[in-house]
Amino acid sequence: MKLIVANWKAYVATAKEAERIAKKIAQVKIKKSTTVVVCPPFVFLAAVKKKIGRTVRLGAQDVFWKESGPYTGAITPDMLKGVGVGTVIVGHSERRQHFSESDDIIRKKVDMALAGGFDVIICVGEREREDKKAVPESVGEQTRAALTGISKGALARITIAYEPIWAIGTGVSDTPNDALSAAIYIRKVVSEMFGAAQATMLKVLYGGSVDSRNIRDFVLQEGIDGVLVGRASTDKEEFAKMLASL
Ligand code: PGA
Repeated sequence: MKLIVANWKAYVATAKEAERIAKKIAQVKIKKSTTVVVCPPFVFLAAVKKKIGRTVRLGAQDVFWKESGPYTGAITPDMLKGVGVGTVIVGHSERRQHFSESDDIIRKKVDMALAGGFDVIICVGEREREDKKAVPESVGEQTRAALTGISKGALARITIAYEPIWAIGTGVSDTPNDALSAAIYIRKVVSEMFGAAQATMLKVLYGGSVDSRNIRDFVLQEGIDGVLVGRASTDKEEFAKMLASL
């Protein structure tokens, strides 16, 4: 099963536009072997849910790490469940950078999301590779920090998205080979933590400037379980083309 995640970030500003994109996605004939998760901004979740049809899943770009209480502006697991969200993204590099999210906060969010019954996509980023042959240690550190203490059972609901920071929103994607070596490295870290069987089961995505020209190069790799698409997923014609190409 391949997983395609559309992360709209803050590119879509109106409910009308959100609905238009969702409607277009619902019209695409998607293979049974492909799961599509659409993650609009919070305020458009309900509108998008109505338009995406039954097979496309609804995801959220973030979740707060407390259940309820005096937390102005926070979006909690119950709020997300109430509008039909089944998947949440945690630890995106933009959250780490612009919202000062630490490994510790991300870890709390992972716990809260798992307790809430969601599938969780944990993003791990990397800065420039100094040595193109080696995946930076930061990818391993972020993976370890996010997964320490998680139960083996819960791991089945976790997906790791490998996203080189320099490839996000730049139009310059990683090479499929380097993305694959990062996926292998992440599985090695998970194998050390949880055992080989768990590492083999773990889903690993690639994210960073995926579009209709390169999506197949990543998705069709055996060791890569899908992609996380940012900007290109908000261009409805482009994203429909991407889905139809798989
Ligand atoms: P992008 O974003 O596709 O716009 O590069 C990817 C991501 O942040 O996951």
